[in-house]
Amino acid sequence: MSCSRSRTFIVRSTVFAALCLGLLAVVTPASAQHPTLIANTDGRKTISLDGQWQTIIDPYETGYYDYRYQPSANGYFKDAKPRTKSDLIEYDFDTSESLTVPGDWNTQRERLLLYEGTIWYRKSFDYQRKPNTRLFVYFGAANYLADVYLNGEKLGRHEGGFTPFNFDITNLVRDKSNSLIVKVDNKRRRDAVPTLITDWWNYGGLTRQVKLVETPATFVQDYFIQLQKGSRNQVSGWLRLNGDKLSQRVTVRIPEAGIGKSFSTDANGYAEISFNADLTLWSPNNPKLYDVVIEAETDRVQDQIGFRSIESRGTEILLNGRPIFLRGVCIHEEAPFRGGRAYSREDAITLLGWAKELGANFVRLAHYPHNELMIKEADKLGIMIWSEIPVYWTILWESPATLENARNQLSEMITRDKNRAAVIVWSMANETPVGDARLLFLKKLIEHARSLDPGRLISAAMERHYTDEKTQMIDDPLGEYLDVLGCNEYVGWYDGLPEKTDRLEWKMKYQKPLIMSEFGAEAPYGNHGDPLTRWTEEYQENFYQHQVSMLKRISFLRGTCPWILMDFRSPRRPLPGIQDFHNRKGLISDRGEKKKAFYVMQKYYHELELTLPK
Ligand code: GCU
Repeated sequence: MSCSRSRTFIVRSTVFAALCLGLLAVVTPASAQHPTLIANTDGRKTISLDGQWQTIIDPYETGYYDYRYQPSANGYFKDAKPRTKSDLIEYDFDTSESLTVPGDWNTQRERLLLYEGTIWYRKSFDYQRKPNTRLFVYFGAANYLADVYLNGEKLGRHEGGFTPFNFDITNLVRDKSNSLIVKVDNKRRRDAVPTLITDWWNYGGLTRQVKLVETPATFVQDYFIQLQKGSRNQVSGWLRLNGDKLSQRVTVRIPEAGIGKSFSTDANGYAEISFNADLTLWSPNNPKLYDVVIEAETDRVQDQIGFRSIESRGTEILLNGRPIFLRGVCIHEEAPFRGGRAYSREDAITLLGWAKELGANFVRLAHYPHNELMIKEADKLGIMIWSEIPVYWTILWESPATLENARNQLSEMITRDKNRAAVIVWSMANETPVGDARLLFLKKLIEHARSLDPGRLISAAMERHYTDEKTQMIDDPLGEYLDVLGCNEYVGWYDGLPEKTDRLEWKMKYQKPLIMSEFGAEAPYGNHGDPLTRWTEEYQENFYQHQVSMLKRISFLRGTCPWILMDFRSPRRPLPGIQDFHNRKGLISDRGEKKKAFYVMQKYYHELELTLPK
């Protein structure tokens, strides 16, 4: 392309980018937590809708659009039945096959393994309505786009495959045979979050629990109860009521600590909370959780909350005021042994148990918010968490709708997990290309995250570059806005051979802590050979031995997260007999077999455990 044309092109595109960015600035409202999401449904009266759901596979979205590709008023959401012998109804949930919820559809039917499109889910249920009571339907997650209907009425739409959402069905529910229908579409889109290409399987469906949540007419919808940033004895936060009786006296109790503090909610049902408390602080060594009760005049919610402070100071990460090293490992939400989207407490216990065996006190849950059971299990086990939204690789940075989507997923992630002591890092993105539009997009997300939760560390997994053949530099402009920097590197796998790390020196533009958020090499379990033969356990072991000695030389390194704990399914990994559509960088196979490299990391972490405080 000739120079002059490109200059006008650059000017024009910069003007266009500025216009879009201006637009972006306008749509971002102030710091509102997720307006409708109910916090801590486990602490409330719920009715599970898990189990068998009738389904209709609908690749052409016939149940949604008419033949003119216009939304049809008579779609499958009507759950219609022929009333007379002459009636023409071309679908029938009752005689359609069922799928299990929670669960992805890909691993439930051989023919759905590669299916990307729409599947309609229907659940019928009876419900005894009660006076002064409201009812919500709550979804742990639905990948990717969910249109939800009850008794033929549209409740709403949710976009994003890894965060919860709920709808108020109080005025729509009836006593007998309610028809709850969800159109789930996991088609990938360029403007979506994530976008078209991911190195993980696009598992579709109602992948997490679905439940009915019963509340009083005015209830405690959401609350934030944690230690104030930098403090180890000042609890601060807020709570919010939802309903018609918004001005109330509300008491926060921590019975075990003899605490009971009352506050008054304002006309919007909102109250700031602040009190002094001498509590046992949560840490990996002692993951202390307190029963916390929020008692309003019309509602009572109980939760289990840990209290700890987390900060960065210079290149240090401080937990409860003391420097720590994050002995981590990355985890995808892939079910051990059976494959598919993990969703159960057992899945969480198995995966976190392996992380503990490795000697980890930290896990990076990649690249999207994992299910709540995983977070709560880590809270109990004392494993710190890096939680991330799927702003992955090359998102459509200039699109206001894409930003709003990412922001919403961020709000939902923080709303759901903000009271979990285990979560110490919110990550905004993974391996995104340096550029103005990207920087502004991510700055907007960081701003939003800080407005929702000023107490946690903000990070992102970035990339590095060579300043000369032996110097690795981390100077991504995004680093300026982060508390902790994450960097993914594959020196010895995508970049040269393992011994290349021996000559490398690491430099960073920022005086901040670094977490090496990814490094890894592939080997199917049981594939053996010499240390330089790719795809062998010996190569992977060799890779990690060199990595560990390099990592030990990085003075500002405060955490490591090998990629990855367990092999996982990926559409980008076809190599027959080796990958078979799995990324084999696991330290453990998907059948739970530990590879040689597992023990290299385990030895390193045990050494760290001995030398550094937990
Ligand atoms: C990337 C990416 C991962 C991917 C990994 C790999 O860095 O963040 O999602 O799976 O590298 O190539 O194995």
